[in-house]
Amino acid sequence: MNITRTVAPLLTAGLLTLAGAVAAQDVKLPETTPALERGKANYEKFCSACHGANGVGTDKGPPFLHRVYHPGHHGDGAFFRAAKQGVRAHHWPFGDMAPVDDVTETEVQTIVDYVRALQRANGIF
Ligand code: HEC
Repeated sequence: MNITRTVAPLLTAGLLTLAGAVAAQDVKLPETTPALERGKANYEKFCSACHGANGVGTDKGPPFLHRVYHPGHHGDGAFFRAAKQGVRAHHWPFGDMAPVDDVTETEVQTIVDYVRALQRANGIF
């Protein structure tokens, strides 16, 4: 076993979390619209179990209110790919993300719009 490859991502993730995450109690909510409400409902149905209420993350998945998910680092296409194909663990110690089979592309678009609005409200970009 390569100890550097095993431990380094854990350390990196810990540092990134300290440096960049927005704590749950500090989240600023975007001004709501009917479209964002739909995105929020879809997000809560399909994504929040791991990515957390309002995108703050959980012990099963990373926060979206984090500079790692700035649109310049992970564009909207990453969300469609993640939902369809899943994600191999590479940034964090949470493990792989399995594909989310039941979500449609139309629903993913509403989720992306909601996550971007949350990110904007919290100064991620
Ligand atoms: C069962 C837990 C789980 C669920 C449910 C889940 N994710 Fe994830 N997701 C993860 C984990 C874990 C990662 C981090 C993988 C890594 O980079 O280490 C991740 C990473 C991502 C990424 C980053 C992809 C990349 O290219 O690095 C995106 C985007 C994403 N998820 C979107 C979603 C969306 C959208 C939903 C809902 C439709 C969703 N996830 C539901 C666990 C989950």
